[in-house]
Amino acid sequence: MSKTKLTINNNGSVKVEGDFEIVDSQGNSYNLQGRTVLGICRCGRSNNKPFCDGSHRNHFEHEATAFDLPPMKKK
Ligand code: FES
Repeated sequence: MSKTKLTINNNGSVKVEGDFEIVDSQGNSYNLQGRTVLGICRCGRSNNKPFCDGSHRNHFEHEATAFDLPPMKKK
């Protein structure tokens, strides 16, 4: 199985690819019909949330550049 990879696209969705499952807040799985690559909306404009439907185009700006998170706090 391939490692799941999330790509934060500039001005758009989060591309998810690999071996993954998407569930709702109750833990029910979305039937992805075998898809191994799809886009998750992060702009809030999709009419098909949580999936991207392209509505972000020309309405959402975020240049994604990777950075380091601060160290985890020890419990
Ligand atoms: S990121 Fe594509 S519709 Fe929101």
